[in-house]
Amino acid sequence: MARLLVVGGAGFIGSHTCISLLNLNHKIIVYDNFSNSSPRALERAKNLSNIKNITADIFSLKKGDIRDEIYLNSVFEEYISKKEPIEAVIHFAGLKSVQESFIKPNHYWDVNVNGTINLIKAMQKHNCKVMVFSSSATIYGYPDKVPIPELATINPLNPYGNTKATIENFLSDIAGCSNTKLIKATSNNGWKIARLRYFNPVGAHQSGLIGEDPKGMPNNLFPYINQVAIGKIKSLQIFGDNWPTHDGTGVRDYIHVMDLAEGHCAALENLFLEKPQLLTLNLGTGKGTSVIQVLKAFEKITDKKIPYEIVSRRNGDSAIAIADVTMAKKIINWKPKKGLEDMCRDSWRWQISNPSGY
Ligand SMILES: NC(=O)c1ccc[n+]([C@@H]2O[C@H](COP(=O)([O-])OP(=O)(O)OC[C@H]3O[C@@H](n4cnc5c(N)ncnc54)[C@H](O)[C@@H]3O)[C@@H](O)[C@H]2O)c1
Repeated sequence: MARLLVVGGAGFIGSHTCISLLNLNHKIIVYDNFSNSSPRALERAKNLSNIKNITADIFSLKKGDIRDEIYLNSVFEEYISKKEPIEAVIHFAGLKSVQESFIKPNHYWDVNVNGTINLIKAMQKHNCKVMVFSSSATIYGYPDKVPIPELATINPLNPYGNTKATIENFLSDIAGCSNTKLIKATSNNGWKIARLRYFNPVGAHQSGLIGEDPKGMPNNLFPYINQVAIGKIKSLQIFGDNWPTHDGTGVRDYIHVMDLAEGHCAALENLFLEKPQLLTLNLGTGKGTSVIQVLKAFEKITDKKIPYEIVSRRNGDSAIAIADVTMAKKIINWKPKKGLEDMCRDSWRWQISNPSGY
């Protein structure tokens, strides 16, 4: 049991991870500016955990921006003065749209990179040296090998990916492991950092009470298909059917968000138990699914015909991204349990129970 600061914890992956962290008896402070989320997600997440009578000591919320140095420091200080200092940070906060990052590169670098530098400074100042960081498979760009091992070339194709790759380098410098070619590198300065490279997180909590709630036009496939299936959007745009894949549409490694949540708990536990280190792991299923295959799976689950049109490829996309997940299994003893049907069913349940999101 530990006192954790979950930054960006109200978002899609963060809110689901809060449930798993609470179930492990951790005490959580969520720090979020709600730029892409709602406090309702947290109210619901709280009620979905197995813990009864959750007090403010077990779960609390701080509305703030990670770039707000003064407020961030005050949160660390508050818990030091309560003699229960924050022991670790799970860092989800950031902007994540590839397409938007081409339009607002400044903003992406400011929130993602400056925000993380600020967070690390606050941690350093208050002697909190454990962090689990949300990285992304997008940093691999056009992979030279599939499934993609952690030691594959890092070659992002878009500003969003550039910010994630830069943060990864920054964290490696902070841990005293600059330019390491190791998946698990020793840190000689006491830092314990896990850089988790997510593939494509989808689905929702099986209750249908929390899920992915994009603002405006969805960028990701699952919420997009959901909104077509429910009649909010006329048809699904498929970005290219001439990729070098079995049916010409892009292939991705979709991972259920609750499996991903468990992956964070496993990584955190590993950091707490092991000596100071920089750990870099892919979190995916190791299985590839094309856009057309996802569409067919959704049609089966929803019992609806989902109209689609093929449009040109998007800038910054790649043909295939599938994780090599050998290391996550070996090092943190984690492996995903849910399959494509669970992902579609849970995602659809969330959509039909919350047609307008939170
Ligand atoms: N969802 C994906 O497909 C995916 C894939 C790979 C990596 N990631 C990374 O995982 C993390 C979480 O992703 P998500 O899908 O839950 O996204 P999300 O947008 O749902 O969650 C991010 C949370 O961070 C908060 N936030 C944003 N800027 C902030 C700031 N300046 N200060 C404080 N809070 C701020 C948002 O309000 C939101 O609650 C992100 O860093 C994202 O880049 C996501």
